[in-house]
Amino acid sequence: MPERFDRLWRGGRLATMAGTRPGADAPGLGIVEAAAIGTIDGRIAFVGPESSLSADVSAAEIIHLDGRWVTPGLVDCHTHLVYAGNRAAEWEMRLAGATYQDIARAGGGILSSVRAVRAASEETLRAEALARLDRMTAEGVTTLEAKSGYGLDLVQETKLLRVARSLGEVRNLRVVTTFLGAHALPPEAEGDREAFIDLICNDMLPAIATARLADAVDGFCEGIAFSPAQIARVFTAARSLGLPVKLHADQLSNGGGAALAAQFGALSADHVEYTDEDGAAAMGKAGTVAVLLPGAFYMLRERQAPPVAAFRRHGVRMAVATDCNPGTAPLVSLLLTMNMAATLFGLTVDEVLTGVTREAARALGRLDSIGSLEVGKVCDLAIWSVDRPAEIFHTLGHNPLHARVFGGLTA
Ligand code: NIG
Ligand code: FE
Repeated sequence: MPERFDRLWRGGRLATMAGTRPGADAPGLGIVEAAAIGTIDGRIAFVGPESSLSADVSAAEIIHLDGRWVTPGLVDCHTHLVYAGNRAAEWEMRLAGATYQDIARAGGGILSSVRAVRAASEETLRAEALARLDRMTAEGVTTLEAKSGYGLDLVQETKLLRVARSLGEVRNLRVVTTFLGAHALPPEAEGDREAFIDLICNDMLPAIATARLADAVDGFCEGIAFSPAQIARVFTAARSLGLPVKLHADQLSNGGGAALAAQFGALSADHVEYTDEDGAAAMGKAGTVAVLLPGAFYMLRERQAPPVAAFRRHGVRMAVATDCNPGTAPLVSLLLTMNMAATLFGLTVDEVLTGVTREAARALGRLDSIGSLEVGKVCDLAIWSVDRPAEIFHTLGHNPLHARVFGGLTA
């Protein structure tokens, strides 16, 4: 153990999300009471009980936690953060009886956001995204995934991805980007889905991979979007370029999306309300994380909750994310989303908290560096003024965040 740290937090109660052996998962939250965290160069150099610190320990700065709870910085592993405008008028239509699918088939839905994004400058997109992002970071989010998918041609998709990448340069936050070309069919494709998939595989994906604008590739597998065979073509192309894949799967119907994602070794299958036992089993075998998005379920007034019991049975890891987007989840609060995951989907408090830390990091393929409090990982922390972990997301509209640490620095 090093003698001297850059910073040392003392007197905290930690939910490390880590087991006792390095790299092992905690059975629960991995709680350590009367604990300290020491950092060197932004990484965790010590984490554990105060009693195992050496007597002559020193640090350039010592911060007293006064018994506050500390979790890893929160990870929102599924958002469509970068978009322009809003779709409140469509919400009114849904409240009056229209379905999400009706609106999509009539040229609204995702395509109405595509029109808004194509008309917006990068500056406008960045300003609108930052306003949302600042709400997320105020609740302890230190890593956020942002998808494209409202551009649907190379110029517009790269515009969205560039804006997403730039957010991490102007805020103390890690942004992970995902190319979601197969989100909807743009009008210029004139109904030819196969030709649009060709365009994604042969033009858009290689250019985006070369420009290193995307960390992963996503698709929307649904009756109103793309078939499993079409998504399989996108996944094959992504994998040949060395990019990991993930999928909007089984959100509105059981289209075999989760099983397809598992077959391609996807990082995650997201939504998964209609996934069946076989799909859950395939995900468990493949290690594909189920990303649960209760905000979209709530806003669409869906009835079928994801098969949480089957996920538990098959050892499927569950993450929880906002899905922040202008259509199905106009939602900038991960804390509210966490409450919904417990209240609407029946997750335990421990499952919710691991779902926005360790399992969300796993869903992004970043578990080696973030998602738990372990020596060697980046020191991203959320420090909470609460007496028990459940209080973090118990009170609706209340934010108990005391401080946020990004890369070892209070931010
Ligand atoms: O995650 N389902 C597909 N994509 C988004 C919704 C996009 C939109 O309606 O703008 C989702 O729910
Ligand atoms: Fe989504």
